Amino acid sequence: MSLAIYPGSFDPVTNGHIDIIKQALKVFDKLVVAVCDNKNKEYMFSKEKRYDLLKCSLSEFNNVDVVQVDGLLTEYMKVNEINIIVKGLRNIADFEYENNMMQVNKILFKNIETVFLISKPYNQCVSSSAVKQILKFNGNISDFVPNCVLEKIKD
Ligand code: PNS
Repeated sequence: MSLAIYPGSFDPVTNGHIDIIKQALKVFDKLVVAVCDNKNKEYMFSKEKRYDLLKCSLSEFNNVDVVQVDGLLTEYMKVNEINIIVKGLRNIADFEYENNMMQVNKILFKNIETVFLISKPYNQCVSSSAVKQILKFNGNISDFVPNCVLEKIKD
């Protein structure tokens, strides 16, 4: 059974993330979606809430596990015997950032590969940052996030 991990901040999960997850499930039998921390970011949602929003957005997929990772991604992968990372790319800026992250992860854990999947054109402008910006101005995020995120962040 082929297995990969899709790590991210998911602050919050967007339709762009779901697009990448659906693409990854065409390539891998099972996907672990990992809510991680980027220590250089300040989050709008707690880790528990980011996890909770992912869980409800992915409830229809029985071959997806959602987990919280507290330390380095590569340490989690070693312990859980996962060797493939999936990352989504929207544009050149993503490529430059993710290419660097791929090299760092590879140094930390030699026995891994990173697989890049390209976002669908209509998701290439979708980002958690845009969603948070719209939320702060009380705008409508319904075209950017799964329904259950809309429901769950109303309050
Ligand atoms: O959605 P993001 O913020 O671009 O995801 C980045 C993330 C959280 C996947 C990355 O920062 C990460 O892997 N964090 C876990 C800690 C780690 O392993 N960092 C890599 C070495 S710098």
